[in-house]
Amino acid sequence: MPKLVNVACGVAAIAKQRALTIPEASGVVVEIGIGPGHNLAFYDTGKVKRIIGVDPVTEMTALAEKRLRQTSLEVEIINTSAEDMPLDNNLADTVVLTYCACTIPVAELALAEMRRVLKPDGRLLFCEHGRSPDVNVARWQDRINPYWNRIAGGCNVNRDIPGLIKTAGFDIKTLETGYLAPFPKFSTYHFRGMASLR
Ligand SMILES: C[S@@+](CC[C@H](N)C(=O)[O-])C[C@H]1O[C@@H](n2cnc3c(N)ncnc32)[C@H](O)[C@@H]1O
Repeated sequence: MPKLVNVACGVAAIAKQRALTIPEASGVVVEIGIGPGHNLAFYDTGKVKRIIGVDPVTEMTALAEKRLRQTSLEVEIINTSAEDMPLDNNLADTVVLTYCACTIPVAELALAEMRRVLKPDGRLLFCEHGRSPDVNVARWQDRINPYWNRIAGGCNVNRDIPGLIKTAGFDIKTLETGYLAPFPKFSTYHFRGMASLR
């Protein structure tokens, strides 16, 4: 499964979203669910001071080895869950959340932790997929999700990502949405944006 996820997360349509988002990161960055490290190549090395990558799955972070060797950035990987991060309050200028709010078992807890570790003027950058606003697609997402979740390493296709972010106490400042072609609609309703603390 980690190898499949690595390939899926490297496709061109997703790389395009990373290229639009990750260069916005600055200062001390906490990257949630860093996994195979696909974002590393997209950081602006002139703006980022250091990166703390949080991910409990060692088989996933092991796949980041080559990308870690290729970056000049200071990156520390912590193999722990985003729901309970051993990090100080108000530590991060940027929290990066890409394609893992779907998988983190208790996303509400993880977002509360992101809020805690962000500085008051910090920013949450996110690229995620989740619940479609189209009633028919959302109905399919609800039907498919129990099976998808089992075959796709715990991924959920029907989470209300903006709702989760707002409920955790963030204001969403920018948000772009839409289906990511050429993939099936049930798994690719996409949210890209930036949020700050309310
Ligand atoms: C689909 S991958 C995305 C990886 C990476 N964020 C990216 O953009 O390519 C989902 C990642 O979430 C991680 N993950 C799963 N449960 C987690 C948790 N409780 N806290 C943090 N990360 C978690 C997985 O190990 C995996 O690396």
